[in-house]
Amino acid sequence: MTQSPLFEPLTLPNGAILKNRLAKAAMEESLAAYGQIPDAKLQRLYRRWAEGGAGLLITGNVMISPAALSGPASVVLEEGTDLAPFKAWAEAGRSGGGAFWMQINHPGRQVMATLGEETVSASDVAVEIPGMSKNFNPPRALSEAEIRDLIARFATTAALAEEAGFDGVQIHAAHGYLINQFLSPLTNRRSDQWGGSLENRARFLFEAVRAVRARVSERFTVTVKLNSADFQKGGFDQEDAKWVVTQLGDMNVDLVELSGGSYESPAMQGRAEDGTSTGRREAYFVEFARDIAAVAKMPVMVTGGIRSRALAEDALVNKTEGIGVSVLGIARAMAFEPDLVKNWKNEATPVVDIPSVTWKNKRLAGFASMVLAYVQLERLAIGKSPRTPRFPFLALMRNQMQAKRWTKRYRAWRAAHA
Ligand SMILES: Cc1cc2nc3c(=O)[nH]c(=O)nc-3n(C[C@H](O)[C@H](O)[C@H](O)COP(=O)(O)O)c2cc1C
Repeated sequence: MTQSPLFEPLTLPNGAILKNRLAKAAMEESLAAYGQIPDAKLQRLYRRWAEGGAGLLITGNVMISPAALSGPASVVLEEGTDLAPFKAWAEAGRSGGGAFWMQINHPGRQVMATLGEETVSASDVAVEIPGMSKNFNPPRALSEAEIRDLIARFATTAALAEEAGFDGVQIHAAHGYLINQFLSPLTNRRSDQWGGSLENRARFLFEAVRAVRARVSERFTVTVKLNSADFQKGGFDQEDAKWVVTQLGDMNVDLVELSGGSYESPAMQGRAEDGTSTGRREAYFVEFARDIAAVAKMPVMVTGGIRSRALAEDALVNKTEGIGVSVLGIARAMAFEPDLVKNWKNEATPVVDIPSVTWKNKRLAGFASMVLAYVQLERLAIGKSPRTPRFPFLALMRNQMQAKRWTKRYRAWRAAHA
C-alpha cells in the first residue's frame, strides 16, 4: 500500500481526525427539493462521494436565510426547519467514515434578480459583470440591527447543523458573497464599525465565528473559507488575508480553506479580472496558500485546479521549499470522478480529465463549464455514472430552463411562507 502523505490522517485543533488529506470542496448542488430542503437526491450524491474515500466532504453552500439564495435550488437551514431531512443527509455524508461539514452562507448582493427578493450587502455597490449586471438587483446597505440578525443566523444554522449530525461547519467568507463583501474595500464603503479599516471590515467575519463557536460544542469543527485574494484591483488582497488568518488563530478556528475570486473576477475558475492568470497552471492558489500557511496557527486547505495526484502531493509537501498545506480541496475533479481518492490511493488513474468549454465568450464558456459539473452532480444524485454531455450548449439551455422552473417553485414557496 502507498506511503503517500496524501493518505496520512490529520488531527484538527478540536481533536477531530480527518482520515486523509483529500477533501471534496463545496459545490452548490442545485438539488434542493420544494421548501429548499435536501431529499433523496442529495443523500444519494453524498453517499456516492462517501464511498469514494475522501477524508472530508463539504456540502455546497447552505443558506442561512430564505430571503437570500445563491441559486433557486439552494438548501436553506434556519430556526424552525424540519431537521429530519438534514439528519438523513448527514448520515449519508458520514457513511464512508470521512468527516462531513456543512458550508453556511449568505450571498449578499450576489443574488439573481429573478428570485424576486430585496438585495442587501455591506454597502449599495452593485455587481458589475459586462453584459450580465442586470441579472443582479443593486443592493441596499444593511442596518446595524440587520447585521446583528444575520450574524445570529450564521450561529443558528451552525447549531442546527450540529444537531442534525454534521461534524462541522464552514463559514463561507470567499467568492464575493456577503462576508467577502464586508471584507473588500471595493464593496464595503461603510464608515461605521463595520467598514473602513481592515479590522472593521473583518468584524462581520470575526463576530460570526465567535457567535458560531458560542452556539456549538467544543468538539464540533468550525472552519472558514477565505479568499487568498479577490483578484480585483483595490480588493481584499493577500496581505489582508494573512492578517485575517492570523487573527482567526485566536478564535478556535479548526481550519482555513483558501480560494480566490468572485462572480466579477472568477479566479476560482482560473479567470481573474486583474490580469492574474490563475488558470495558467494547476493548483492555482497554492503559492498564496503556502505564504498564508506560514502565519496560520490552524491547518490550511487549498482548493482550485487540482486534478493530478503528483501535483496534489507536491502541493501538500513542497519538497524544495519544505512548506506545504495540510488539506487539498477538490471540487470539479470530484464531480467527474467520485472515486478519485480511492483511485489515487490504489495508484490508478492519477489524472482526472475535466472537460472545458472553449467558446470565444469567456464568461459564457465559464458558465457552461460550471453547467457540465452540475450535470455530473445531477447524474450521481440519481445513481448514474458521470458522463460529459456532447453538446455543452444544449446542457446550458437545459440548465436555464431548470433554473426557471426552480425559480417559480421558490417564489411560490416564499409567497406561501412569507
Ligand atoms: C458547480 C460548482 C458549484 C460550486 N459551488 C460552490 C459553493 O457552493 N461554495 C464554494 O465555496 N465554492 C463553490 N464552488 C467552487 C469550488 O469549491 C472550488 O473553489 C472551485 O471549483 C475550484 O476548485 P476546482 O478546480 O477543484 O473545481 C463551486 C464550483 C463548481 C464547479
